[in-house]
Amino acid sequence: MSRLNNRHIVLGITGGIAAYKAAELVRRLKERGAHVHVVMTEAAQEFIRPLTLQALSGNPVHTSLLDPEAEAAMGHIELARWADLLLIAPASADFIAKLAGGHADNLLSTLWLACQSRKAIAPAMNQAMWADAATQRNMALLAQGGAQVFGPAAGDQACGDVGLGRMLEAVQLADAAEGQFQSRLLDGVSVLITAGPTREAIDPVRYISNHSSGKMGYALARAAANAGASVTLVSGPVSLPTPESVDRVDVTSAQDMLEAVMSRAQGSDIFIGCAAVADYRPVAVAEQKIKKNDDTMQLQLVKNPDIISAVTALAQRPFAVGFAAETEQVLEHARGKLERKLLDVIIANNVAVQGIGFNSDNNEVVLVTANDQQPLPLMGKQQLADALIERLAAMYRGRA
Ligand code: PMT
Repeated sequence: MSRLNNRHIVLGITGGIAAYKAAELVRRLKERGAHVHVVMTEAAQEFIRPLTLQALSGNPVHTSLLDPEAEAAMGHIELARWADLLLIAPASADFIAKLAGGHADNLLSTLWLACQSRKAIAPAMNQAMWADAATQRNMALLAQGGAQVFGPAAGDQACGDVGLGRMLEAVQLADAAEGQFQSRLLDGVSVLITAGPTREAIDPVRYISNHSSGKMGYALARAAANAGASVTLVSGPVSLPTPESVDRVDVTSAQDMLEAVMSRAQGSDIFIGCAAVADYRPVAVAEQKIKKNDDTMQLQLVKNPDIISAVTALAQRPFAVGFAAETEQVLEHARGKLERKLLDVIIANNVAVQGIGFNSDNNEVVLVTANDQQPLPLMGKQQLADALIERLAAMYRGRA
């Protein structure tokens, strides 16, 4: 199976004679199993029609930053987040200068700035333009910022010159794109993940819950599926789309989550408890909506079952990974949970820090094992999930 299988690729096309090769590139990416969205600059549309690329990619082509209809369907930030790889092919000298200058004056340059995933450029231009010091300076800046550079190749040019500046062929670009993705670290491995909050009913209209959005757990599910695992995601109530190739089981309360997990845990190789499970639930759920007759009311709570501990108590237990959401003494508390819950790994998450943890797009954690701890710096949750899955897969494989 190609490493591009199920990968999300945003292909940016800028104006240049090599734009015609983009149609072939979309075909090559699709035949390797990638999902492709095409973004075209105005100049690119002078060389190749959006309709061609729409037909080949199977998705609407994105052309404008200010098109309310397109933004409503899939906004530019959403598209930037969707991408596992943003590849600009062909990238003209002018567009490269725009990127190096950090401009965001059209959809594609804006996406480039907003995208935190892999980014690559396939330059295509006249050999003298490629050799020019300004272009080389711009390329160096982009490479410093982490962009991969595919090509250019040397040879005959459309203008009659001979030299470096030709865009790579579609197959070479598809190979280079494939090279951006790690090997399928979790091929043949089944991963069970919990995500989101639980809701503990008080009466028919009220419940106890927390601020978990599910973003971290969903990102992990996506990363594990991308790494080749068969993934089941047991999810509390969230408003997120199910990641591709992931089997999702919706639950509401901690008790529901326990049941959904325990009926699947024994057959799973890896369990990741990312859900923010409510620690307590009301002792009794009122059958009717509680009336506010009194100035105060007492709610008696009882402890919920600890799902992850039930998993690690199984005779045939999966490799177990927990999260510890802490507001103080983060590493000490995380280590305590690692030991008490008999986990292989715990991800310490300082949820007192603004902008990370609950219901944010970014996170910063420390991966803690019995005799090691590895900090992972602030980054987008999808990027963090990719990094975590890579490390967890290595640990799981190392143990097996
Ligand atoms: O969903 P997001 O908005 O993206 O936010 C992500 C997150 C902050 C929820 C996530 O990164 C996180 O830290 N999840 C764990 C939250 C939590 O409940 O931690 P805890 O320290 O209370 O629990 C420790 C571990 O035991 C967790 O793996 C938890 O899933 C598990 N647990 C807890 C209670 C319980 N009854 N059963 C459990 O299995």
